[in-house]
Amino acid sequence: MNLTPLQTAMLDGAHGRAAQKSMQILAALGKIYGAEELIPVTSVQIAGVSYANLGEAGLAFLSDMADGGGKTRVLTTLNPAGMDIENWQALGISPEFARDQTRVIEAFSRMGVVATCSCTPYLVGNVPLYGQHIAWSESSAVCFANSVLGARTNREGGPSALASALTGFSPAYGLHLDEQRVPRLHFHVEAPLSGTFQFGALGKVIGEIIEKRATRPVPYLTGIPQASLEELKSFCASIATYGGAGLFHIQGVTPEASLFAVPAESITISSQQIHQAIEHLSNAADEPDFISLGCPHLSIDEIAHLAQLLVGRQVRKEFWITTARPIKQMADRMGYTRIIEQAGAKFAADTCCVVAPIQGRFKTLLTDSAKACYYARGKNKFNTLYRSFEEVVNEATR
Ligand code: F3S
Repeated sequence: MNLTPLQTAMLDGAHGRAAQKSMQILAALGKIYGAEELIPVTSVQIAGVSYANLGEAGLAFLSDMADGGGKTRVLTTLNPAGMDIENWQALGISPEFARDQTRVIEAFSRMGVVATCSCTPYLVGNVPLYGQHIAWSESSAVCFANSVLGARTNREGGPSALASALTGFSPAYGLHLDEQRVPRLHFHVEAPLSGTFQFGALGKVIGEIIEKRATRPVPYLTGIPQASLEELKSFCASIATYGGAGLFHIQGVTPEASLFAVPAESITISSQQIHQAIEHLSNAADEPDFISLGCPHLSIDEIAHLAQLLVGRQVRKEFWITTARPIKQMADRMGYTRIIEQAGAKFAADTCCVVAPIQGRFKTLLTDSAKACYYARGKNKFNTLYRSFEEVVNEATR
């Protein structure tokens, strides 16, 4: 791989131990994937923040990078942590976990990583522009950045994203390259869709089709005249979860779609397939004992809608509203938080129902998120009930 003088100096240790280790990680990755060069990135987003996933080994790696002089060279934000940093007690998080999670956040902060603790960095100030190269690692956000914003990123692991943050570079392969962004499989969506719930189901249907193909073709969708930011956020989370997709194009909706012809191979998605996916996302016969909205993290518009739905009503179950801290602060200012908390729901800022250490605490999750259903079953061993945003609120307050 061709390295610039600055990159070579970093590799030789002239910019400190952390930059050297970072450059070793990136050079090794570049070699594995056949990259010819390392390209500058303008933004980084790091996943793998929960102490539940990192453990002591992960924390030791972060501390070592911070001790080795690691400092971010571009705007870098964090994925959700394992707890609400300010209000973890109310969510039943143990003091031991809170202590360890705080050590993780401190290690990142020492390196200049902004502890947004959100999977929707594009809602809280980390907003790459069209065509910019970035290094993000949260799968739903990677898909959103590539598809909706037209930025360019592979799905980085936590260490490689940190390495990009500390050097400002990423290996030029995969979705950084024009040829890897060309759609290869056409999906015509016959089903009329609306709401995060139906877009989540569409992501499961298409994701499962492309996941079966060895080449994981970039999908090109037609038949969707419009989609809101929230619907696209839900679709991104779902198609990334069920299909490993990092990029899609929707004719007339996403910015790169007009660059390409409709691929020759075509599959039609019917209403029946969407309904089947919705059915499959529920596997519980019993009542939910845990309810969560906010996977991916809720936008301020979704919180406003939630507050409107909850006026004068009372929640009867453990109900988490997961969002980024700055969005929660806007909700505080607008009075939405007061309405939502008076109804008995709890804000879980900085975290989510998947990365928080809640295995064994609940049996059945009710949610509007196809991604949350996947991880609730696989990781936390919960049963799931999949409903629309409004139905979730209705069932929570019944
Ligand atoms: Fe975000 Fe957690 Fe869902 S990180 S996309 S809310 S699993």
